[in-house]
Amino acid sequence: MKRRNFVLGAAGLGVAALWWAKPSDHGAPYLPYFRALNEELKRNGPMEPVLVIDLDRLDQNLDQVMHTLNSANKHYRIVEKSLPSPKLIDYIAKRSGSHRLMSFHQPFLNHDAEIFPHFEILMGKPLPVQAATRFYQDLKGEFNPTKQLQWLFDTPQRLLEYVELAKGLGTTLLASLEIDVGLHRGGARNNAELKAMLDVIAAHPQYLTLSGFMGYDAHVGMGVPPILGSPQELLAKAMVRYQGFVDFARSEYAALWRDGLTLNAGGSPSYALHAGEALSNDISVGTALLKPTHYDIETLKAHVPAAFIATPVLKKVGPIMLPAIDQRSRIFSWWDPNQRETYFTYGGWWRADYESPKGLQFNALFGHSANQEIVNGSPATGLSVGDQVFYRPQISESVLLEFGDLVILRGGKIVDRWPVFVA
Ligand SMILES: Cc1ncc(COP(=O)(O)O)c(C=O)c1O
Repeated sequence: MKRRNFVLGAAGLGVAALWWAKPSDHGAPYLPYFRALNEELKRNGPMEPVLVIDLDRLDQNLDQVMHTLNSANKHYRIVEKSLPSPKLIDYIAKRSGSHRLMSFHQPFLNHDAEIFPHFEILMGKPLPVQAATRFYQDLKGEFNPTKQLQWLFDTPQRLLEYVELAKGLGTTLLASLEIDVGLHRGGARNNAELKAMLDVIAAHPQYLTLSGFMGYDAHVGMGVPPILGSPQELLAKAMVRYQGFVDFARSEYAALWRDGLTLNAGGSPSYALHAGEALSNDISVGTALLKPTHYDIETLKAHVPAAFIATPVLKKVGPIMLPAIDQRSRIFSWWDPNQRETYFTYGGWWRADYESPKGLQFNALFGHSANQEIVNGSPATGLSVGDQVFYRPQISESVLLEFGDLVILRGGKIVDRWPVFVA
């Protein structure tokens, strides 16, 4: 008798615990912004997966960047990989007045040189010399790399490889040096490593001209547990290192030094903090203009999301039904109200997070499909066939290249389609 009571008690507790842990209904219909965007895409969109750029929101972010950098007397450099569409870059260049680009990929670099022949370009990473050779082979138009392109170097060996390239081309290359200001992603870690690179430049004045430093500091503003330092403290440390490299080069290699060298820093996570230091003169920002979810960080609080993936619902099939489990799947929709409706969308499995309507979720038991992705939600989402599921990309580089021409929005209306770079 005692044992039976114990079993019944345990079972009762189990059911109570299950009931207590039961997910609540997270579903809610579109907010007005997405309701209107859904209608616009249904009326004028291609009804396939698209990447939407809202220019009004982008303007807001860009104005924020320009206000910050102008007030600190720093040049703005547009990060091409994070905004990989020539028309998008052109739009940002015109609104910001910047003709400075940071490039990371040889095929894009060749496009840049052809489309923006009067821009000045700094490489954001050191490229293998073979890629640089291809750049010169494919170069078209008026762009003059001797004056307009700063290659980036991380080691003396790479500088020596490029000396051979310059000899072959009979030209001089602008050489900017990567310095490690705390991110630890390569470049000179100390004055001895910087010296080794400066020695190569000093020994080959006919082939290499020092054009500046690049000290990327993505660790400032993101990715570092607060106990290891606030963004302000990390930036202060980074700038002490930066100053040390500058002082060393200026005093030990005075013949290579000149006013106006590019002292590049930044990145989206730290750009706003650079307004408080007086050493750097050139700040790169790209992703912050679109604010994907990876950049939902404190230092970008003033920025708004400006890029969305939208894709139509193709099918709405009711409560979740898993293959092989069939009708017994009802336990899942009983348990979780967010599994009481099942949708299949046009494409999916992007590096992106559900945005609208609220409460949509992936079903790991069913699995991913890049062709027709499953999405579960509660009936409270109000989603129907032909409506759009909206996502925010997690990052902008590469994700922006996956949807063909960008859909450009102004005042809530589709006003254009802008092609993206083709690698
Ligand atoms: C050298 C360098 N500078 C700046 C950036 C900043 O780019 P974004 O503002 O798009 O994050 C990056 C991004 O990877 C980078 O590698």
